[in-house]
Amino acid sequence: MHEFSISQNQPPEQLYDDLISAACALTDGESDSIANMANISALIWQFLPDLNWAGFYRMIDGELVLGPFQGKSACIRIALDTGVCGAAASTNQVQRVADVHAFPGHIACDADSRSELVVPIGIDGRVTAVLDLDSPLPDRFSAEDEAGMTKLVAAIANRLG
Ligand code: SME
Repeated sequence: MHEFSISQNQPPEQLYDDLISAACALTDGESDSIANMANISALIWQFLPDLNWAGFYRMIDGELVLGPFQGKSACIRIALDTGVCGAAASTNQVQRVADVHAFPGHIACDADSRSELVVPIGIDGRVTAVLDLDSPLPDRFSAEDEAGMTKLVAAIANRLG
């Protein structure tokens, strides 16, 4: 069992350093990607403020399939040409969306979502999953959040796929 004490009231760079250390410790020596996704979504949910959904979609047979998450129940399958998650997976580019209502094809799993950050998870240049964060606040995710989450995913990518 792990217990982390991470202050939410610190500059983003330090918050992400703490989150990355915790993510590495939580997944250390564990090769089961579902177990690791479950713990990472719980970690992010506990310590990153103002989220209404945090979790993973896994690339299976050319579509995204719901993985471990925290938040309300969500859509199970997402085609790669649909929504924010599909855009991240098909382009292998982070999607940071300040206003989800302005994003063509956005899928409203939770009507409360106003902004979204989706980070593709790549192993050997192949997207194996995406990390999806939703917030009820408009423009919740900053460039620091994008950089921090990208670093976190890169640090443990081979334990998530
Ligand atoms: N909003 C996402 C769908 C997933 S839910 O937010 C959990 C999208 O447009 O891809």
